[in-house]
Amino acid sequence: MRGIVRRGVAVVPQAGESFERSGGQLPSCRPELDQRGVVVAALWRGEPPQQGACKRARRGGRHFQVVTGRLGRVHGCSMRLHPGAKPEFVLHVESRLAELRSELPAVLPPAPASIVLEIGCGHGHFLARYAEAHPDRFCLGIDIIKDRLERAAKKGRRAGLTNLHFHKTEATELIDCLPAGISLQAVFLLFPDPWPKKRHHKNRLVRADFLADLARRVVPGGAFYFRTDHSEYFAVGRTVLERHPDWEIQPAAPWPFEEATVFQLKAPEYQSLVAVRRAP
Ligand SMILES: C[S@@+](CC[C@H](N)C(=O)[O-])C[C@H]1O[C@@H](n2cnc3c(N)ncnc32)[C@H](O)[C@@H]1O
Repeated sequence: MRGIVRRGVAVVPQAGESFERSGGQLPSCRPELDQRGVVVAALWRGEPPQQGACKRARRGGRHFQVVTGRLGRVHGCSMRLHPGAKPEFVLHVESRLAELRSELPAVLPPAPASIVLEIGCGHGHFLARYAEAHPDRFCLGIDIIKDRLERAAKKGRRAGLTNLHFHKTEATELIDCLPAGISLQAVFLLFPDPWPKKRHHKNRLVRADFLADLARRVVPGGAFYFRTDHSEYFAVGRTVLERHPDWEIQPAAPWPFEEATVFQLKAPEYQSLVAVRRAP
């Protein structure tokens, strides 16, 4: 049996039946639905999605997308499962999102406020310097790797910056959970994972559906800054933005602030673009 999960609506197999998507099969999937039919958790036989397991899965074999209410919109290795694992594991995506929703108001300025976001901030080199240079702007850096965020946070503490916060979260989840009244005045995406294989392109962040979700939180005239050393990703990203109803590329717009990131220092060359949120 084939199951289909779209955002917010789920048509899924019954308990014990298998679930097929993206060329993979998730054995013994037992989705738990809420009253709207949204998958809030999936119980299956498999290893917990710890970093180690994910890395092994990535090297060794096939990946399986976690079944959640947001299937197809949740990315990153921590969302992927090793298929050959033993103990049963329950992943409560909704409870993680609820936790994020409750954490964010405490670390962000009170609403209404417009903030600067860096997605995939890594060790925080760029955002720490940016926040230092713009004390009037609140800067939020997110990443899915804890160690990198700890190093980033240290930079902010050492510089005594109160307008800077780093948070461990995934980009699509952050956008879903941003408190009402918090908008984005600028979004930086610097050297994002390029996902070079065609079958992984769906994991790229510069894609139409994510850009639409992002645009809903960006103020009109707010900017999206994209920089990468992966020329194919850059070209595809530029085309996606050119065709996107919410964004307008501004070829003459200057890059607003220069501070080399870890990946920038390693890149022999790179390309940048600035796109501005159109007025709705
Ligand atoms: C190639 S590294 C670049 C890091 C940094 N921007 C730099 O230029 O040095 C990409 C970063 O994005 C993070 N990342 C990947 N997917 C993400 C996602 N969906 N949400 C948030 N961060 C993500 C990774 O953990 C990693 O730290």
